[in-house]
Amino acid sequence: MGCPDIRELSGPFPAPNVPPMNILVAGGAGYIGSVFVEEACEAGHTVTVFDSLIEGHREAVDPRATFIQGDLADHAATLAALRASKAEAVLHFAGFIMVGESMQNPTKYFRNNVSNSIELLDACVQAGVKKMVFSSTAAVFGMPERVPIEEDFPKLPVNAYGESKLMFEALLRWYKKIHGLDYVAFRYFNAAGASATRGEAHRIETHLIPNVLKVPLGQKENCAIFGTDYPTPDGTCIRDYIHVRDLASAHLLALKPEASGHFNLGNGEGYSVREVIETCKAVTGKDIPVVEQPRRAGDPPRLIASSAKAINELGWQPRFRALADIVSSAWQWHSANPDGYQ
Ligand code: UFG
Repeated sequence: MGCPDIRELSGPFPAPNVPPMNILVAGGAGYIGSVFVEEACEAGHTVTVFDSLIEGHREAVDPRATFIQGDLADHAATLAALRASKAEAVLHFAGFIMVGESMQNPTKYFRNNVSNSIELLDACVQAGVKKMVFSSTAAVFGMPERVPIEEDFPKLPVNAYGESKLMFEALLRWYKKIHGLDYVAFRYFNAAGASATRGEAHRIETHLIPNVLKVPLGQKENCAIFGTDYPTPDGTCIRDYIHVRDLASAHLLALKPEASGHFNLGNGEGYSVREVIETCKAVTGKDIPVVEQPRRAGDPPRLIASSAKAINELGWQPRFRALADIVSSAWQWHSANPDGYQ
């Protein structure tokens, strides 16, 4: 099956067969959260976004959603937001995500991604929320011995970020057992791409694709390749890039009452750092000089998902399969918004 033309993919996804519901999206002003909110509004859900704006952007929040600025550390504010929204389900995107920073400042990661997130869990129980959909990460697997990675592979995170997400997964299991709060935990592989109006705008950008695109945008002279001596065909790390709108569509499916448990979300295809840079050159039509640098600490050589479980059990169907489509959507957004959100 060939890849659909990117232009055919600009409209809304076919809405899954889930009746409209009231949902609260923690972290709905962030990169993945804001794209999900857009899709959820499109699908007819009544959406409340709860975001501290420490990393998120107010402008990224779909105007159809109700916005409440607040921090998960503030239990009373979190509970009040849940009650005001009459949330039946909560989507928890409100995590810190920088692997490198988590190894400098683990407290920040355990405090927000675990301890503040417990406030959200408790508030969900108090407000009678039925389900949580949680943004976990492939980083829970650490350095897997083989790929593609299946959900039941050993969980041996090699950084504090991955450990913080794994700890929250454990909490979800216990809250389900004890309080009956159902959950879906999605382990994202490498989120990338943009919708027509929302894209990746981290205050400190560490991810590969947006960093590479800074060169054709004229914001950087070259891009770094971290490590060229990995045991991969071209010596650079291989990752599974998954479009942010495909992640969003999985979250809509997770709202089905029968959806429950842990799911990997990736395309099942690996691309090396050099292949990503070549794709960025082809998509932008510009030269992108590279500077080869030593390995970045804690980078596994190869991460590729098996998403068979999400495909078979949730009926998920990623639509942006080709890396060029993913990069192309990112390029369109960055070209239109070179400085991100205001
Ligand atoms: N890289 C470069 N140059 C850059 C930036 C990155 O060579 O300027 C390399 C990295 O060393 C790595 C690859 O490109 O080999 C991808 O790096 P990213 O920072 O884009 O993504 P990571 O794979 O490190 O991490 C991302 C998420 C994690 C998640 C992981 C799962 O940030 O949360 O994907 O695959 F766990």
